Formats: sequence, structure tokens, C-alpha cells
Amino acid sequence: MALLDKHTIIEKNATLLTVLSLLVVTVGGIVEIAPLFYLENTIEEVDGVRPYSPLELEGREVYIREGCYVCHSQMVRPMRDEVERYGHYSLAAESMYDHPFQWGSKRTGPDLARVGGRYSDEWHVVHLRDPQSVVPESVMPKYGFLENKLLDGEYIEDLLLTHRAVGVPYTDEMIEAAVEDFRAQADPDSDFDGLLERYPGAQVRNFDGQPGISETDALIAYLQMLGTLVDFSTFTPDASR
Ligand code: HEC
Repeated sequence: MALLDKHTIIEKNATLLTVLSLLVVTVGGIVEIAPLFYLENTIEEVDGVRPYSPLELEGREVYIREGCYVCHSQMVRPMRDEVERYGHYSLAAESMYDHPFQWGSKRTGPDLARVGGRYSDEWHVVHLRDPQSVVPESVMPKYGFLENKLLDGEYIEDLLLTHRAVGVPYTDEMIEAAVEDFRAQADPDSDFDGLLERYPGAQVRNFDGQPGISETDALIAYLQMLGTLVDFSTFTPDASR
């Protein structure tokens, strides 16, 4: 009997077919999934990616609280039209410290994964206050009230600890200096050497141009960092993994 003829036995017996199908799917599943339990990390590490600074992390909280993700994605897909519009496609490593991730599923507005450095701080202040004043057809809501919500960094240590609990490698030193770093990043006259050592490339400015650290300061610090951590002029994908 040829092999194919033997196969008809399986095809004509529904129970046997079900049992054997299940067996095949189980073996396939184990082969695919089991190695993941032994790998320390499934994400290729990339130079430049670091945990968010306290001010950026606070800005990210505002971003999530205000539901910016409802209209904005943060993932440039590896397709030509996207790459031409937004820049290099997103790397897994670029969102490895995002809890929860902000990839999003809807784009009422543009993708923001690489918005950092695309506009000036002043543009962001004006745009957040009144989006229609810079883009008349915009349907983005106004967020001017964030300028009046001042932050004193009271809970910033807890925020870092929370992220450490879910796997972000904040060191004891980072936690200890959280309040100091939070204030230093929004004040160019401060001593921010420690901040830059702990968070290389952190941008230090008075983001909203007003005294005090407001939620607008934090949000703009976050937006201006997005997509800028990896230097794509020197980045080459690691083909060995
Ligand atoms: C109701 C949907 C909606 C929400 C919610 C929303 N946006 Fe927007 N956003 C838009 C649209 C539409 C545009 C494009 C027109 C414009 O620039 O205003 C836009 C543009 C932007 C841009 C400029 C992007 C670029 O590349 O030109 C930024 C930055 C931005 N939004 C940030 C935010 C932030 C931060 C929040 C939350 C505080 C937010 N948006 C909430 C709809 C939204």
C-alpha cells in the first residue's frame, strides 16, 4: 500500500484525525514556545536605549492619563510609505521600557514614535494650547490646562519604583536622585551633570518657558525624547539573532 493510501485511514476516521491533529499542534507549539522560557531576553539590545528620566516618565504618565494614545500610535511600521513619512521603522528595543506599551491601534493624528526634535518646544506649547491655531483643520482637543498643573515631584520616586517592579532597571542611585533629577531637567541653571550621567542624552530645558514645573513641561520633555535615543546614522541591525 502506498503511503498516501494509508493516509486515507486517518482521513476517514474523524476521531483519529482529531487526536493526531492535536498531537501535531502540541509538538509544534512546544517547539515554538519552550525556548522562550530559557531566553533571558527576546529583544535585541540597542545602544542608546535607556530607561526614561523622571521628567520624561512623568510626561508619559500625562500622555497616558489624557488618552493621547487614543488618537496617536507610537510605532513606525517597516513599510515604505511609513518610513518615508516618519523615519526609521521602530525597533522592539525602543519600547522595551514602556509599561504599558504605547504602540496604539488608531491614527486619528500622526504616529508620534519619532516626533522628538521635529518641532520646537514653543511649537508644542502653542499646539497643545490650541492645535487649531497651527493646524486649522486639526481635530485634536486643547490641552492648555496642563500648563497650570504644577508638579513638585512628590510621587516621582514611587513612580520609578513601580516601573522597577515591572522590570525597568532603575538603580538605587536613580531612585534616590529621582526628585533631584526631576527638577534638574526642567531647569537649565541647575547642576544637571548627575542627570546626564544617569540618563545619557536627556534634554535639559525649561520646556514650557514658564516658572515652575508643569505637566506641559513633563509632556514636552517626553515628546522631544521620543524616537531620539537610538542614533540611526550608526545603527546596524544585528543579523546574528
Ligand atoms: C481626538 C484625537 C486626538 C487626541 C486625543 C490627541 N491628538 Fe494629537 N493630533 C491629532 C490630530 C488630528 C493631529 C494632526 C493635526 C495637528 O497637528 O493638530 C495631531 C497632532 C499632534 C502632534 C503633531 C504631530 C506631527 O507629527 O505633526 C503632536 C505632537 C500631538 N498631536 C500630541 C498629542 C498629545 C501629547 C496628546 C495628548 C495630550 C494628543 N496629541 C491627543 C489628534 C489627537
